[in-house]
Amino acid sequence: MNNKTLIDNLRCIPDFPKKGINFRDVTTLYKNAECMKIMMDELVELYKDKGITKIVGIESRGFILGAALAARLGCGFVMARKPGKLPATVIKESFSKEYGVDTIEMHIDSIEPDDVVLIHDDLLATGGTAKAAYKLVQHFHPKKVFINFIIEITDEGLHGRDEFKGIDLTTLLTI
Ligand code: PRP
Ligand code: MG
Repeated sequence: MNNKTLIDNLRCIPDFPKKGINFRDVTTLYKNAECMKIMMDELVELYKDKGITKIVGIESRGFILGAALAARLGCGFVMARKPGKLPATVIKESFSKEYGVDTIEMHIDSIEPDDVVLIHDDLLATGGTAKAAYKLVQHFHPKKVFINFIIEITDEGLHGRDEFKGIDLTTLLTI
């Protein structure tokens, strides 16, 4: 939808965390009350009638609105975490990132086959992180999986959306 208030409040920081990366800083959206309302209202509108039973938030920026949306939708919230953080038995998936390699983990008992799942993260760049989360979620064979990002980056040669052909994917801002 590319709401002007959101675009105007998104901060970009050149050459962070390394030269050549133009870092989209969502903290400036999260700290702004009007932006928080715009984002939450739109997310509720997108997913209120989808029968979502679990939201999977991707550590760490996916926890913020993922958990808030779960509270608004009245569904559960599950964490997809960086390695070694979850205390019980986990499944894990490794992936390449725009800058480095990473792994995410989920508790083995976090999703049931009758769940309808929404995977949420703040940002879609290469799609590597969310693809790993999607593979983890698929391990549980849920009824349906939706994916949402606040921001989709399409400049700098990124085509993260191509990783999710045929999957119900929404984003609030396309840059
Ligand atoms: C960032 C961002 C997404 C991911 C997007 O997280 O929050 O999770 O990278 O990149 P991709 O589409 O190329 O995978 P980061 O790993 O920097 O960690 P953070 O959320 O803990 O800040
Ligand atoms: Mg992240």
